[in-house]
Amino acid sequence: MRAASAAPGALSRNPDAAAQFGVLRERFFQVRIATSALRQPFTHLIPTRKHMTITINGAPVELPGDPRVSLLDLLREHLHLFGAKKGCNQGACGACTVLVDGERVLSCLALAVQYEGHEVTTVEGLAPQGDLHPLQKAFVEHDGFQCGYCTPGQICSAVGMVHELRQGVPSHVTADLCTERIALSHDELRERMSGNVCRCGAYNGIVAAISETFESFETFEKEPA
Ligand code: FES
Ligand code: FES
Repeated sequence: MRAASAAPGALSRNPDAAAQFGVLRERFFQVRIATSALRQPFTHLIPTRKHMTITINGAPVELPGDPRVSLLDLLREHLHLFGAKKGCNQGACGACTVLVDGERVLSCLALAVQYEGHEVTTVEGLAPQGDLHPLQKAFVEHDGFQCGYCTPGQICSAVGMVHELRQGVPSHVTADLCTERIALSHDELRERMSGNVCRCGAYNGIVAAISETFESFETFEKEPA
C-alpha cells in the first residue's frame, strides 16, 4: 500500500519515469485496441442459435448463441434449474447427471448445442408438478442422502439405469452378454451407479431406495428393437 501511494509523488519528482510510465500506458492501450481489432473479423463466424431449440422438462427452450455453453450451465446459469449440481465439472462425480431422451448424460461434459431437438429431463421434471417421483419418496424413507448435493444426480442416474436395463445394455458385471433379461442384482446396481459419488457416504440408503423402488420389476426384459 505504501509503495503504491508513494508512486505518484515519485513520478512527479522524476520526469523521466513519468514519461516512461506514459509511454507504457499508451502501449498497453495500443495492444488492447490492436488485439480487439484482430478479433473482430472472426465474430461473424460465431453462429447464432436463433430458432434452434431444446426441450427441457417438456418446455421448448431456445439454445444460447454461444456454442461453448455446456448443458449444465444452460440449466443452472441460464434457466435457473439448480437441481443438477456442478461438483467436479469434469465428468468424475455424477452430480450433474440429467436424462437426454431417457439416457443419462453428464451435463458438465456436454455442450447444449449437441442436443438441439432432444428432450432433456432434470430432477425437477421427473414427476408432475408438486408431486415426488417414487424414487424421490424412497430416498426420503431410506435416508438416501445427508447434505443432498449428489441426490439429484443419483436419482436421475438411477432412472437412466433402469432405462438401460430395459434396453438390454450390459454392464461390466453382466455375466451373459446375450441375455434377454437382466436382473437388477446388488452387483449390477452397484456397478451401474458407480459413476455417482456421494461424499457423505449415504450409499446404504441410496442402494436401499433404488432397490425398493425398482424391485417390482427386478428382472428387465429387453425392449423390442
Ligand atoms: S459435475 Fe459433472 S461429473 Fe462432476
Ligand atoms: S448426500 Fe451429501 S454428497 Fe451425497
